[in-house]
Amino acid sequence: MATVLTGIKPTGTPHIGNYVGAIKPALQLAADPSIRALFFIADYHALTSIEDRRELNQLTYEVAATWMACGLDPTRVLFYRQSDVPETFELSWILACRCAKGLMNRAHAYKAKTAENRVAGRDEDDGVNIGLYTYPVLMAADILLFKSDIVPVGEDQVQHVEMARDMAENFNRTFGTLLTIPRHQIRKDVASIPGLDGRKMSKSHRNTIPLFGTPDEVRALVARFKTDSSRPEEPKDPNTAPLYLMYREVASEEESRALAERLRTGIGWGDVKKEVARALVDGLAPQRERYHDLMANRAMIDGVLREGAEKARAIAIPLMDDVRRAIGKLAD
Ligand code: TRP
Repeated sequence: MATVLTGIKPTGTPHIGNYVGAIKPALQLAADPSIRALFFIADYHALTSIEDRRELNQLTYEVAATWMACGLDPTRVLFYRQSDVPETFELSWILACRCAKGLMNRAHAYKAKTAENRVAGRDEDDGVNIGLYTYPVLMAADILLFKSDIVPVGEDQVQHVEMARDMAENFNRTFGTLLTIPRHQIRKDVASIPGLDGRKMSKSHRNTIPLFGTPDEVRALVARFKTDSSRPEEPKDPNTAPLYLMYREVASEEESRALAERLRTGIGWGDVKKEVARALVDGLAPQRERYHDLMANRAMIDGVLREGAEKARAIAIPLMDDVRRAIGKLAD
């Protein structure tokens, strides 16, 4: 039985791009009875960039409620909060001692930050905390603690999974083969969901549509979606219209075909936007209702995460016993 693990960093309110690119494919994968799935909220990774305690707390609940509302079944998937599994942080330290500093110097997020500082004429480590610097070590601990075989991630996280492999290999060479060598699985479709300005939908581009915004909010945002200046009666190519490409991911096949046909025969962008907003509001209505119920009943979310953490620790604790013995902590 293959173990599939992925972490979700609670750094923004979940949006349509997250749903299409990460949530939907992960939940489809989790439905496969031949895999053991572990999905967790990487709240201590978020701590490298969030310092407002209310924000971290709120986003953690939003992310948990979103996955649960979208159909995550906690009886099948181990769903937990990273910080509720303290073995993670112990393994993280041990791995840090098996990780060359040079490897962290090459991590994309750190390199991008230092490059940005250099261009701005600042000290290259300006604003870089050690948590950001050693982010890939913590991520390696998340992965290796559960003997993960497969780690589904977006393109930007592939390097981190490779670094986890490096650390596992180093550990195994040094202390004897104990850790499972993981491999990544890329979610290819992530980049293809356009946001309001036509670029990839992403929090950093400020072009997102929240998954469970109020109907008014969704309508107002869709109205802002960038379109070309073609007149209503002009035929439009659905496959090059970002608005349609987003619609296709949330609407049913039948609805998608119908709207594509209307685009080809001529429909004004204003009417297209009405249909897109309708699909987003109606199509996700059951999930939106579940989401708001959960957010109003946080004890329920706590209960699910607590139970998930207990099950996760039942796997992590024996592995950590082996790790401690391997490094020489316990008598043989
Ligand atoms: N770094 C990942 C991201 O930003 C989140 C994450 C943390 C993760 N730990 C992980 C992903 C372990 C996969 C496996 O998206």
